[in-house]
Amino acid sequence: MTHEHAEADTPDPTATPPAQLLEVTAGYPGVTALEGVTLGLHPGRITALLGANGSGKSTLFSTLLGLVTPRSGTVEIFGRSPHRARRDNLVSFVPQHEAIDMTFPVSVEQVVTMGRYPHMGLTRRPRAADRKAVEDALAATGLDTYRRRGIGELSGGQRKRAFTARALAQDAPLMLLDEPFAGVDRTSERLLTDVLHRLRETGTSILVSTHHLDGVKDLADDVVLLHRRVLASGSPDEVLTEHNMARAFGAVIAEAG
Ligand SMILES: Nc1ncnc2c1ncn2[C@@H]1O[C@H](COP(=O)(O)OP(=O)(O)O)[C@@H](O)[C@H]1O
Ligand SMILES: [Mg+2]
Repeated sequence: MTHEHAEADTPDPTATPPAQLLEVTAGYPGVTALEGVTLGLHPGRITALLGANGSGKSTLFSTLLGLVTPRSGTVEIFGRSPHRARRDNLVSFVPQHEAIDMTFPVSVEQVVTMGRYPHMGLTRRPRAADRKAVEDALAATGLDTYRRRGIGELSGGQRKRAFTARALAQDAPLMLLDEPFAGVDRTSERLLTDVLHRLRETGTSILVSTHHLDGVKDLADDVVLLHRRVLASGSPDEVLTEHNMARAFGAVIAEAG
């Protein structure tokens, strides 16, 4: 897939970190979900965001999207504020929980076409480039034959693929995916991993949260281990140690048990 965001103010994807948090503390009334979080993504790489339930992964995505404003610290996407970055179509997002009403009669093709809205202007009339991007995204996610299906008629894994296809069609240089592998079968997991690897080859930077630890080494170049704070970050081999896993997941398992 080629990037069509080659307008005059398109950032040089190698010059600035795709995403940078500096000493970010953020949360909700009475809850500190992130505390002193500093991390920078490397351009053109896949970073896995690992952490137990409640460790702040979704909140971190919300701060990158400007949906949660940090109490302190700074968030930048390609050197810009989250709002500016979204307006400039620099970031796409596959949410953990989709806000679309699944009983609403919208087809897979229509959902994927929504990814093109930033390119379409106010008329929202698809042009050839928009149609091609939708076709490419449907093909990449194996959903060609499901295009006329209602989004609510898909399996969980197919639905994740549809929302990934929407983000692919958006063609932004940073893609954020919040637990795309949750509730997904092996086939969909393999397919999504392949999609992300191919996307990386186009220079897209990717941040993907997951707690499928098995798949991380195959999926990601870098790993960030989160538990309200950044516990560790680096290569999969550096981060995925027994000691770190116990720190990130052990405490929660003990609490739950
Ligand atoms: N909308 C919200 N309002 C209040 N608290 C929230 C909200 N969303 C998340 N939290 C709390 O913030 C913490 C981090 O949650 P979250 O970012 O969703 O973690 P994760 O995605 O890793 O499971 C948890 O303690 C959670 O209960
Ligand atoms: Mg979450």
